[in-house]
Amino acid sequence: MIILAVETSCDETAAAFFRSPGVVLSNVVYSQKIHSRFGGVVPELASREHLERINGVIKEVITSAKKAISDVDAVAYTARPGLVGSLLVGRTAAETLAWLYGKKILRADHIEGHALSAMLGRDDLSPPFLSLVVSGGHTDLIVVGKRGDFSYLGRTRDDAAGEAFDKVAKLLGLKYPGGPEVEKMAAMGNPSAVNFPRPFMRDTDDFSFSGIKTAVLYHLNKLPSYASGKKLSLRATADICASFQAAVVETLVDKLIRAACREGIKKIALGGGVALNKALRKSVLAASRSAGLEVFLPRPEYCSDNAAMIALAAYNRLKFK
Ligand code: KG4
Ligand code: ZN
Repeated sequence: MIILAVETSCDETAAAFFRSPGVVLSNVVYSQKIHSRFGGVVPELASREHLERINGVIKEVITSAKKAISDVDAVAYTARPGLVGSLLVGRTAAETLAWLYGKKILRADHIEGHALSAMLGRDDLSPPFLSLVVSGGHTDLIVVGKRGDFSYLGRTRDDAAGEAFDKVAKLLGLKYPGGPEVEKMAAMGNPSAVNFPRPFMRDTDDFSFSGIKTAVLYHLNKLPSYASGKKLSLRATADICASFQAAVVETLVDKLIRAACREGIKKIALGGGVALNKALRKSVLAASRSAGLEVFLPRPEYCSDNAAMIALAAYNRLKFK
């Protein structure tokens, strides 16, 4: 089955050409740049940008797949969750194409896409497995069942992991999106410099990262230079980034491995923008090796928002309906 998918739930305008069960024929992502000057996504600007970009992105994906729209069996789009105006642009584009060319229309869930994304471009991962989705809006621990079904073990109770990276970056005067900036700084710092709390919350599989973010703020307010409005030294910034990243990574990995062992699930996967973080990837690999688990990391191009994962999520629903 060949699926043309579009993704417009937040600030990436994306399209992909996909062949079941998991081959990506082409994958085009336009990351909107307009938001960086505001330090976060501005919903109204995001939908306007999607509107301007969506046709070009779809044309590009068709050309680079060396296919025609007549080769497609179905058109898929992200139905939820996301920014309402942004979602509407993708839906309208997908429904228009499906209507014009007489194709089947498929709806997909964005989080299901992230949870499955490690399956893209490989054939050695199939359900059941435990997926940790770590993105800007979600920190979810999801069992992907044998029938392609999803059961949530835990969710974020406040700030998602990516959101915490973005907010800490903002406190430190780093650019948006903050995750990659904090990671760059962390590479130059000492992860043991500041002992930020680890919110393990052993009685639940839920996550909470707002406390670490507040701990960073309290730490900064105690530094005379920060409190007087001066820029922190590179050394101090790097140490805070490294210590913050270490606390987040340790918490995520601990909770993922514990849940997998408790549930008796042998295969684990990551998904979402934070899954690009090299410290997290390295730590998950090491911890799963010692726990005897098999780990599947998505390729970098399938971590951040993309439409290949949307095609896969739509196909997964169709297959098991
Ligand atoms: O999955 P995604 O592209 O969009 C959402 O669905 O939210 O994730 C975006 C999030 C942002 O919070 C961004 O700061 C974070 O992923 N991120 C990272 C890294 N790259 C992106 N966080 C930590 N380290 C990174 N290298
Ligand atoms: Zn996402």
